[in-house]
Amino acid sequence: MAKKPAPDETAAPLVPRAGGVDALREAAAGCRACELWERGTQTVFGAGPQGARIVFVGEQPGNEEDLAGAPFVGPSGKLLDQGLEAAGIDRSLAYVTNVVKHFKWEPRGKRRIHAKPNAREIAACRPWLDAELAAVKPLAVVCLGATAAQALLGRGFRVTQSRGELLERTGLAPWVMATVHPSSVLRAPDDESRRRERARFFEDLAKLAPLVRR
Ligand code: URA
Repeated sequence: MAKKPAPDETAAPLVPRAGGVDALREAAAGCRACELWERGTQTVFGAGPQGARIVFVGEQPGNEEDLAGAPFVGPSGKLLDQGLEAAGIDRSLAYVTNVVKHFKWEPRGKRRIHAKPNAREIAACRPWLDAELAAVKPLAVVCLGATAAQALLGRGFRVTQSRGELLERTGLAPWVMATVHPSSVLRAPDDESRRRERARFFEDLAKLAPLVRR
């Protein structure tokens, strides 16, 4: 039986000091700093070029990402890609990652249903995200949804109030923005609200275009 992680254990001792994102990804593959590794198929580390200008941070991999071993390859990732294309932002300028690198899920019949990561799981995984930001050094960090926004900008941050605002002097990157998670757009209750939420999400992403074209 694998040893249970201590309640205050984090990934920090596993983080390599050199070697960039590839070394981080390799080390994170064996991460057991919280118990989620037992539930997920594999660690889903960030993806994209080390020299990316924008880092998008989501909550955690979903079902498809867990199986594929890559972030934002499912429906949320497709909507993000469409938003980047609409904004004229080259996808190769973006690195995508998550606050938590294992899929947390609960069984419902034969399906695996997303479960929200808790504060302990987020804290255990945080050293990976900090190391990714330090390695990529993006011009802009974009938090997708409340979990990412509150992890990076503080528990009091409200995406509903401050979405789309370009923030400076956060200590994370020259620019930081939070917007909704693309899954919330996909979950909008009817066609009309889905169209509206998609347009608002795309408008937020469009604000990044002038920054990365500089
Ligand atoms: N949702 C996320 O937050 N991240 C992913 O990688 C996929 C869906």
